[in-house]
Amino acid sequence: MPQIELDDRQFNLPLDCNLLDGLLAAGVSVPHSCRSGHCQTCLLQSDQPLEQDDPACSNLSPEQHAEGWLLACQCWVSQNLILTSFDPTKSAIPALITGQTRLADDVIELRLQPRGPLRYKAGQHLTLWLDENLGRSYSIASLPEDDELAFHLRLYPQGAFSQRIQRMDNGQTIYLSGVAGVCHYDPDWHDRPLLLLARGTAIGMLHAIARDALKQGHSGGISLIVWQRSEASGYRHQQLTEWAAQHPQVTYLTTDDSQGDQLLRQRGLVARNAMALVCGSPAFVERQRKPLFMSGLARRQVLDEAFLGSH
Ligand SMILES: Cc1cc2nc3c(=O)[nH]c(=O)nc-3n(C[C@H](O)[C@H](O)[C@H](O)COP(=O)(O)OP(=O)(O)OC[C@H]3O[C@@H](n4cnc5c(N)ncnc54)[C@H](O)[C@@H]3O)c2cc1C
Ligand code: FES
Repeated sequence: MPQIELDDRQFNLPLDCNLLDGLLAAGVSVPHSCRSGHCQTCLLQSDQPLEQDDPACSNLSPEQHAEGWLLACQCWVSQNLILTSFDPTKSAIPALITGQTRLADDVIELRLQPRGPLRYKAGQHLTLWLDENLGRSYSIASLPEDDELAFHLRLYPQGAFSQRIQRMDNGQTIYLSGVAGVCHYDPDWHDRPLLLLARGTAIGMLHAIARDALKQGHSGGISLIVWQRSEASGYRHQQLTEWAAQHPQVTYLTTDDSQGDQLLRQRGLVARNAMALVCGSPAFVERQRKPLFMSGLARRQVLDEAFLGSH
């Protein structure tokens, strides 16, 4: 049985067992959320980097791999490991809470002022940590040149992060790590139609990507289409309507599950050279892929971000 040393504790875990599951079963409280390699809350650092193609490293940057980081939820134990926990209070960027605004009954905008250099593009995601045990991924709903870093957060009744952050005050510190994600504007798309399909809190990041595109001189059409359960469940509708009215190349539409596919077809929104960015719940992202491919978009023309919850 491989021996695992984590900080100052030692465990023997069965060969080929999942590292996160094994450590949790041994009573170690390893932070985690999605369990599918996307949120980077289960980061551990090995004294020796794993092979580059190990699944535990496949969603990490080359720099993270070189430093020995791995994702415990994607690691199957095949050898002895000497590991160190990720401590956001030491290794992540502190950020002050500068505001929280209620956007809907169950959605807030959280605004932060990072206290260190943070390089990111609108639409990428970060892990927000309240302490060394509680981190969650959120997508960036602001531009680097904005005064504050912003996120749209869904509040879940049992949500460990979303319930606790609401009780925190301006001026309190949280921690930021792991900027990642392919859903952001690329200046190479400057004259191509942009199709931004959002559900729920993905409105924030996709609106930020559209603002970024305009700022970078995008000359093609930009269609922001928001899926909502009902008119009452949407938010920012008035603000987005006014914003779209100020930009002749922007189309802003709302729709729902029963009308969405038809709307894309009828309005001829899926041009052959379009770039489509699809963000929201995993089910929404999965559902939108087929009509986009059926309309002739190639795989490289569709980028997505699924807002995976914790298990
Ligand atoms: C790359 C990435 C980007 C993300 N960006 C955003 C974002 O911009 N805005 C945002 O609001 N969320 C986003 N998420 C999702 C967010 O990280 C999760 O929803 C997170 O689990 C919420 O944390 P919590 O502590 O409030 O709830 P948790 O304590 O994690 O969950 C408590 C309970 O709430 C319910 N729940 C939590 N999350 C979900 C979910 N996503 N779907 C369905 N039920 C859920 C479940 O019943 C769960 O058992 C993103 C996720 C990923 C992986
Ligand atoms: S990446 Fe491992 S729990 Fe999300």
